[in-house]
Amino acid sequence: MKHLRSISEIGPEAVTRILDLTDHMVEVNQRANPKVPALRGRTVCNLFFEDSTRTRLSFETAAKRLSADVMTFTVKESSVNKGESLRDTIETVAAMGVDAFVIRHKSSGVPWQVSRWTTASIINGGDGWHAHPTQALLDAYTVRNALGRTGGLDGLRVAIVGDIRHSRVARSNIEVFRALGADVTLVAPATLLPPTPLAPCTDDLDSVIGEIDVLYLLRMQMERIHDAVIPSIREYSTRFALTAERAARLGKHVLVMHPGPMNRGVEIMVDPAEIPGAMITKQVANGVAVRMAVLFDLLASTESLDMEVPA
Ligand code: NCD
Repeated sequence: MKHLRSISEIGPEAVTRILDLTDHMVEVNQRANPKVPALRGRTVCNLFFEDSTRTRLSFETAAKRLSADVMTFTVKESSVNKGESLRDTIETVAAMGVDAFVIRHKSSGVPWQVSRWTTASIINGGDGWHAHPTQALLDAYTVRNALGRTGGLDGLRVAIVGDIRHSRVARSNIEVFRALGADVTLVAPATLLPPTPLAPCTDDLDSVIGEIDVLYLLRMQMERIHDAVIPSIREYSTRFALTAERAARLGKHVLVMHPGPMNRGVEIMVDPAEIPGAMITKQVANGVAVRMAVLFDLLASTESLDMEVPA
């Protein structure tokens, strides 16, 4: 695999390979010294043109655990503010010797555009409304692991709830869960659905809540909502939020997920700590292992399958 720009581009086989590799990375992370020399001498550059907490820190941690060198570029402190173009920025950083760029950008398609300007591997850390493949992989891993499965997710019933229209997480998660054989239902008001339905849709959360295995809540993407697409936050929460009453009706086996950052009081009205199936902290922890697996898959040559602790 040269790049990870979307789930559809890599296909189900690569998805399964990365999830299998993640099991090894979880094992590395459980060691007293969670660091291996696998990517020694490789350089990973995080280019974040949009805000991020989890994704940026998670990639940074993942690269360091594999002994890669890491550069982190945040646009607020860069020459982009002096008018430097995206292309000049990439070519400048690439000239320093970079093996992989992790890119987050507000415009869809930027990871594809950037891969024409450098020979480095490109990892999409979120492009506009379009895709967020490492989030999808970590979510799929979290589900697989919580259920004790090793292969796919055949027959699993997943409901993705909320602001699907503006969500790159939703798009990538629909692709990953389907690639693994799960059934996906989208739950949202019609105004928060994309023009072309990507999966079966409903606007009635209460009708699906008793028939699912995974409840995936999305963040209301306030920064991307320019027109009034919902009557009010209160009306939205009444119909689509995870309330205490809905949480009580969830089957004991149901996994509750959220990519973070959570809007408490908008899409979630209960403390996740009180939901037995809440996976939200697990998702973050698994994010590091999944990103280690992705970096390893992209950057390690076969002979450097060097996961042992150095002597
Ligand atoms: C998501 C993102 O930025 O796409 N956050 C994340 O990466 N965990 C989801 C969001 O912002 O809603």
